[in-house]
Amino acid sequence: MAQGITEQVQHSEDSRRRAPALESVAGQATGAFPVVRMRRLRRSAVVRDLVRETALDLDDLIYPLFVVPGSGIQREIPSLPGQYHWSVDRVAQEAERLAHLGIRALLLFGIPASKDPEGSQAWCDTAPVQQAIRAIKAALPDMLVITDVCLCEYTSHGHCGHLSGQEVDNDATLPLLARTAVSHARAGADMVAPSDMMDGRVGAIRRALDEAGFTETAIMAYSAKYASAFYGPFRDAAGSAPSFGNRRGYQMDPGNAAEALREVQLDMAEGADIVMVKPALPYLDVLRRVKDTFAMPTAAYNVSGEYAMIRAAVDRGWLDERTAVWESLLGIKRAGADLIITYWAPQVAAWLQEGWRP
Ligand code: PBG
Repeated sequence: MAQGITEQVQHSEDSRRRAPALESVAGQATGAFPVVRMRRLRRSAVVRDLVRETALDLDDLIYPLFVVPGSGIQREIPSLPGQYHWSVDRVAQEAERLAHLGIRALLLFGIPASKDPEGSQAWCDTAPVQQAIRAIKAALPDMLVITDVCLCEYTSHGHCGHLSGQEVDNDATLPLLARTAVSHARAGADMVAPSDMMDGRVGAIRRALDEAGFTETAIMAYSAKYASAFYGPFRDAAGSAPSFGNRRGYQMDPGNAAEALREVQLDMAEGADIVMVKPALPYLDVLRRVKDTFAMPTAAYNVSGEYAMIRAAVDRGWLDERTAVWESLLGIKRAGADLIITYWAPQVAAWLQEGWRP
């Protein structure tokens, strides 16, 4: 008897716990086949469009651009077919073309004329990125210009910070990153995006920006950035592969998701306006947890290797480009991303402009 009561209590507790989920999933339709037929709402494009839960449009996308020294340069990047290195004199023209396509936000990366152990070209006011910011903002004041803040493209050893022996020295790197961010803001960047994974860098950058009077410059933090094989094509494009070792001492271990929540929480406490999960497709679970836990504006970086995989399969005729790209971007959005940084942005924009629909 006592056993029976316990069982009953247990059972009603279980069903109470399950009830909301059942209600929200089944709604009034508690029946089953043949009364319920899921295919009714899949019969035509109109109905499918009406009931679709997740939409994707250009307002969600940020396009990365690579700026190089020199002039008259538009050079295709071998590891990223369809992506280019641009010299400063050509980049504003490209930004105008992108604006006509409907792209409204750019993320700039720079390749300097020379590298040194400190990465001093990163905070040089006349380096390619700083010049590109000025050129783009002069031509297109409404284009949102975001800059990647990191030292790996600028250091001769290819690591993301100051080296002490063979180790990246966290605290010695912070002022260098802060200087870089201020230099970008001074050139006119709307937002800075630290991608180095040093502890405390968001706070250091926020303080430096505020002290320099750039209180309105936003920070998009690469908060949960994993040590990933999928950055391979980018490192060829940016010449930023580490000359020894790897980045596992500062970027996150791919096995960890709870740790990503701690990273995001710390970046929020330090003043991040937007948090990011990177890469996107192998880490959709992390994206969902970050979005659900913090309800922050959440970005996902659909990185170079994710682009290269689809690009390569499309070029061999193994995948249909438009539907494969749309499905991956939609998946990233459905997993919780509010904004997506993607090399596909101009293609998607051009397809939409032609009136293409998935
Ligand atoms: C710089 C940086 C990297 C990427 C963005 N910022 C490379 C890295 O961390 O090695 C990768 C972007 C991509 O693969 O598209 N630290």
